[in-house]
Amino acid sequence: MSLLLTNIGELVTNDPEHGARLGVVPGAAVVVEAGRIAWTGPAAAAPAADTAVDLGRRCVLPGFVDSHSHTVFAGDRAPEFAARMTGEPYTGGGIATTVAATRAASEDVLRARSQALVREMLRQGTTTVEIKSGYGQEVATEARMLRIARELTPETTFLGAHTVPAEYADDRAGYVDLVTGPMLAACAPHARWIDVFCEPAAPTAFDEDEARTVLTAGIRAGLLARVHGNQLSAGPGVRLAVEVGAASVDHCTHLSDADVDALAGSWTSARWPDGGASDGGTDADAGTVATLLPAVEFSTRSPYPDARRLLAAGVPVALATDCNPGSGYSSSMSFVVALAVREMRMSPAEALWSATAGGAAALRRDDVGHLRVGARADLTVLDAPSHLYLAYRPGVPLVHEVWKDGAQAWP
Ligand code: NIG
Ligand code: FE
Repeated sequence: MSLLLTNIGELVTNDPEHGARLGVVPGAAVVVEAGRIAWTGPAAAAPAADTAVDLGRRCVLPGFVDSHSHTVFAGDRAPEFAARMTGEPYTGGGIATTVAATRAASEDVLRARSQALVREMLRQGTTTVEIKSGYGQEVATEARMLRIARELTPETTFLGAHTVPAEYADDRAGYVDLVTGPMLAACAPHARWIDVFCEPAAPTAFDEDEARTVLTAGIRAGLLARVHGNQLSAGPGVRLAVEVGAASVDHCTHLSDADVDALAGSWTSARWPDGGASDGGTDADAGTVATLLPAVEFSTRSPYPDARRLLAAGVPVALATDCNPGSGYSSSMSFVVALAVREMRMSPAEALWSATAGGAAALRRDDVGHLRVGARADLTVLDAPSHLYLAYRPGVPLVHEVWKDGAQAWP
């Protein structure tokens, strides 16, 4: 069965065959077969299909790829947010509040809340999401978080080394042993990725040596690396991420020149995610993507990362929400795109690429984040004539419908 989606006012493909960067096709159509993109181009040239759907001149994008979220947790930290808005800094210390609530929650409650958050993301146009553990910080709860996450996405990340829990405050080495030993053994079967909050400026996060120990143990267990780095200071996170061949280093709020050089250097011998021929799988030879999370700077009232500096150096940039109860509780990729354009001076095209193809590169995925032939038919339909409206009409629910694997998933 083939499906023709036609009368698309503007189609964003991220396919260089249709033009640089976004590969925009005006007056377009898409043919879907077996859940994959079979053809894209001008509607007038579309091949025949078994059924057709008229999209009423709306704009169609690749579904957003949110490559960084913490959407399995209990409780909230609204009072912490309110305190911050009246002057308290974000230090990462509040993570312990969410750890206590998450440990105390039943599996059913955790699952229901996580399902609701992923549903909330879907109806805002996000069709691929990465989800981390990290609010358990004990073997059973970390494994429970990852089991739940795995029901929701294949992009699951073991973040046992988020912060050192209170019971290990005087035995940091003991906690690293736990994370790299029994906790990793229990969690690795449910995870694709290993992550660590490498931030010497935060007393409960991990320094360079601890973070390297965690990442190399994860890699030995068959996981791929990603890093929380350079959020609060120009610490060692970026350099370590490049050293271990991480797919992405996330936050990148404080960068030295050497950090930017290291990220750019990681791509000199690797295939840049520019939409070349899709092999439908993982690009294991890729460099390290810089993932920016401007909803965190918004919610912590911090200076935004310097996206232009990274782009000028040729570093692939991804945008993600970091949806979590502490540093930023937005699940909206449209909001992130609007922030990137307004606050980080990314062009609307750069921001949308980073929220789709950039996120896919950060997850080393070739089958999402674009609408080239062979891609998953994950589509976001906007009640708008063009992608410019994402930043031009911030805060407005523009998503009209969402398709996943060739089927309408919302509403
Ligand atoms: O990505 N930086 C560390 N972890 C999260 C925040 C988690 C929290 O505050 O609960 C982040 O910002
Ligand atoms: Fe995070």
